[in-house]
Amino acid sequence: MVRINRITNGIPALVAAKIETTNPGNSIKDRMALRMIEDAEKTGILKPGGTIIEGTSGNTGMGLAIAAVIKGYKCIFTSTDKQSKEKFDALRAFGAEVIVCPTNVEPEDPNSYYSVSSRLINEVPNSWKPNQYDNLSNSLAHYESTGPEIWEQTEGKITHLVVGVGTGGTICGTGKYLKEKNPNIKILGIDTYGSVFKKYKETGVFDKNEIYPYITEGIGEDFLPANVDFSVIDHFEKVTDKDAAIMTRRIAREEGIFVGNSAGSAMAGLMQMKHMFKEGDVVVVIFHDHGTRYLGKMFNDDWMRDRGFLTEEKKTAKDLLAKHRDLKLVCVSPGELVSHAIEKMRKFNISQIPVLGDEGFIGSVDEGLLFRRMVDKPGALDGRIDEVMNPPFPIVNESAHIDQISKLINRETPAVLVKLDTGGHHIITRHDVIECISVG
Ligand SMILES: Cc1ncc(COP(=O)(O)O)c(C=O)c1O
Repeated sequence: MVRINRITNGIPALVAAKIETTNPGNSIKDRMALRMIEDAEKTGILKPGGTIIEGTSGNTGMGLAIAAVIKGYKCIFTSTDKQSKEKFDALRAFGAEVIVCPTNVEPEDPNSYYSVSSRLINEVPNSWKPNQYDNLSNSLAHYESTGPEIWEQTEGKITHLVVGVGTGGTICGTGKYLKEKNPNIKILGIDTYGSVFKKYKETGVFDKNEIYPYITEGIGEDFLPANVDFSVIDHFEKVTDKDAAIMTRRIAREEGIFVGNSAGSAMAGLMQMKHMFKEGDVVVVIFHDHGTRYLGKMFNDDWMRDRGFLTEEKKTAKDLLAKHRDLKLVCVSPGELVSHAIEKMRKFNISQIPVLGDEGFIGSVDEGLLFRRMVDKPGALDGRIDEVMNPPFPIVNESAHIDQISKLINRETPAVLVKLDTGGHHIITRHDVIECISVG
């Protein structure tokens, strides 16, 4: 259990994550996978040398596959094409066969991953389907292990449990144990948009209109698994695919914890519910699996950008100044000669100079202006700057966005001045803006 420090800044309660990545298959689902196998062995439905056939998004399959290697079973898994490829590769690494089925079909469709696994059960001799959704050994595993661990690790101080809900095994097994210890503990389920849980909990209506494809992995369902005991769950919070994906990355970057997509959902949901947590509360959030399985997705910038999940940070005046901020701002005074200004441009290899008078910036000169003046009037070199200068450059703050700066720069205005947060001014030229846009 690890305390969350930064993301939860502003929440008066203590927030701790139960991180389940150090199980042999790197997810919490190892607990229930082993329990389902052991219970099936005891009742005799899983016989020596048998084949385990299951519809799984990967993590349950991983737990089953590892146990099957040790215990001498074969594994065939059906899954959906929206799951990370890394999950399938990991299952195959343990010798399991993986059949990938389409996501966007009804559970009853013969091609759905539920139906394909049910059909294989009849075709493959000596096979057993754990059926993690309706097999109550699933929640029992959490009732007997995850629940007591959280109770002990928080010394009985836990007030809220936040968990992503898929089969419902984790939240209901853990939640049932904790509520038996202290009925005041609030059990908060995280659901996805496109899933039926929240509406069913709140209205008792199974609404098919709630069902549509979504990206978040591991949680939400389009049917009601037997492991979801709605009486244990006090409230469901829905989290968008985008918020879940962004939070998955933030957990790594801000907390140094490398976990999967449903951890992002759970954490984002926790933040949506922050008004529920007060000083003295102990909020535990479960992080189901490891981040490596999502390297090609939430942790991949192109994947995030393609779905509009990556909000690009706009560059500011501060960024544009970064390269030359330490150099001194070159100015001319209104009484200096034009020839001096030209000499300064040559010496410092610059094309424009602000004119600084006693009362601040009162004008500007640039190569184009001085060239035109010299062509118009041959003696201009010996004239004063304030006789030829243009109006002063516009002034922006360090936080000004590049869009705002680009709008100010045009033929007549080749640069803007930046009022520095630390005092003083600096300059951003047309060249700086072009370089920033083209190089990034
Ligand atoms: C990554 C991930 N998160 C959350 C869940 C949901 O857990 P449960 O099925 O116990 O409700 C799963 C289930 O497979 C999962 O793989």
